[in-house]
Amino acid sequence: MNDILSPIELTPEYLVDVASIDREHQFLIGLYNGLVASVRDSNARDMWDDAFQKLVAYADQHFANEERLMIERRFPGYDSHKRQHDNFIQNLHHLATDRTSQDEKRALERLLAFVGQWIRGHILVTDKQLGEFVKRD
Ligand SMILES: [Fe+2]
Ligand SMILES: [Fe+2]
Repeated sequence: MNDILSPIELTPEYLVDVASIDREHQFLIGLYNGLVASVRDSNARDMWDDAFQKLVAYADQHFANEERLMIERRFPGYDSHKRQHDNFIQNLHHLATDRTSQDEKRALERLLAFVGQWIRGHILVTDKQLGEFVKRD
């Protein structure tokens, strides 16, 4: 299995120490891991769109919650953090509509690889910075 397409294990390094954010990350990672498990199963393909939409909707909601917290706490990195969220959602929509023209399985793998890489990088760097700030505050 391609490394990038492996499930994300919620090890302690992923914790940002803000309970509500960690809870939401756990749920989001669960949705992602479910999609990783189903991408190679052609029987699960019918369920894929629904599961993917669920992930997008949950990510959207989670981002809104983080952004509300940033505004409440007057987090100085708000603009660039929000830009990352917005770009991610935009890229997801782009990749999701792109996939009809290609081999579906490859397209879904590409899409998931992007999601997994983004989630890992965003939590470990950007959300952690927010967590540090909230803890200091
Ligand atoms: Fe987050
Ligand atoms: Fe974030």
